[in-house]
Amino acid sequence: MAYNLLKGKRGIIFGALDNNSIAWKVAERAYEEGAIFTLSNTPTALRFGEMDELAEKCNAVVIPADATSIHDLTQVFEKSIEVLGGKIDFVLHSIGMSLNVRKKRVYNDLNYEFLNKTLDISAVSFHKMLQVAFKLDAINEWGSVVALSYVAAQRTLYGYNDMADAKALLESIARSFGYIYGRERKIRVNTISQSPTRTTAGSGVKGFDGLLDFTERMSPLGNATADECADYSITLFSDLTRKVTMQNLFHDGGFSNMGMSLKAMTMYNKSFNCDCEPEEDNLVTD
Ligand SMILES: NC(=O)c1ccc[n+]([C@@H]2O[C@H](COP(=O)([O-])OP(=O)(O)OC[C@H]3O[C@@H](n4cnc5c(N)ncnc54)[C@H](O)[C@@H]3O)[C@@H](O)[C@H]2O)c1
Repeated sequence: MAYNLLKGKRGIIFGALDNNSIAWKVAERAYEEGAIFTLSNTPTALRFGEMDELAEKCNAVVIPADATSIHDLTQVFEKSIEVLGGKIDFVLHSIGMSLNVRKKRVYNDLNYEFLNKTLDISAVSFHKMLQVAFKLDAINEWGSVVALSYVAAQRTLYGYNDMADAKALLESIARSFGYIYGRERKIRVNTISQSPTRTTAGSGVKGFDGLLDFTERMSPLGNATADECADYSITLFSDLTRKVTMQNLFHDGGFSNMGMSLKAMTMYNKSFNCDCEPEEDNLVTD
């Protein structure tokens, strides 16, 4: 159902790769809610992803950019203002990538060049985006900037690797820049801490299927889907949440406040009846 919550608003959505991407779902919902926006992703993602389909569906211009490049980000903001006909009201940072995860380097055997890339792409790019927008004065008063995070920023989860460090930094940037942007320009900066979600980035996490099942059993409301994350993002872009800023907002069916649930305990008890000890190398390598 649409409520016209974003009627008259202009946005930029970073990170839609294919129709599983959280950013893709946000773009579809933003369009339904009356927003106009541009879409951005890396030139490689534009070549191999399905962005053209989304752009056509949402009547959006696509602007290629590597989110670690100040030059590219400047172009995205300048061009977006030009094609949308005015300053921006909302920005979605839905970007994450770890070469350590991709190349199966475990946390106690990280490649530090990969780590620098993880942090730059998945967290520092958020600071760069905010700094570029701030310097260009590209966002309207009461605008809203949202990035996507994960509970591994606070709690250790097997297999999440250096992305946990990136998410901790991302959430800290939201607080630190949120203070300045709020004080100087009345602009909100928040992160949404989303349930595990089956996307290209999500599925790369070691043991993802087990994680998805575990969090589903642990969360009283079940895992939040990408569509539900899109709904939540729309509320944060809307005028209904004007005084929400510098927050990490859990959107995870209650998982982050659970210790043990009946469903998870039932499964755990069943495991006593089977021969399913963790593999030895998993115990020592991650
Ligand atoms: N899927 C999950 O389980 C989950 C859970 C919590 C948070 N998140 C976060 O949600 C966000 C979106 O991920 P997703 O799950 O939709 O996966 P996804 O793979 O669909 O999206 C990740 C996007 O990051 C883009 N990207 C990578 N490097 C980039 C760069 N240098 N510049 C610009 N863009 C770049 C990719 O092209 C891709 O579009 C990420 O921040 C991710 O960490 C995902």
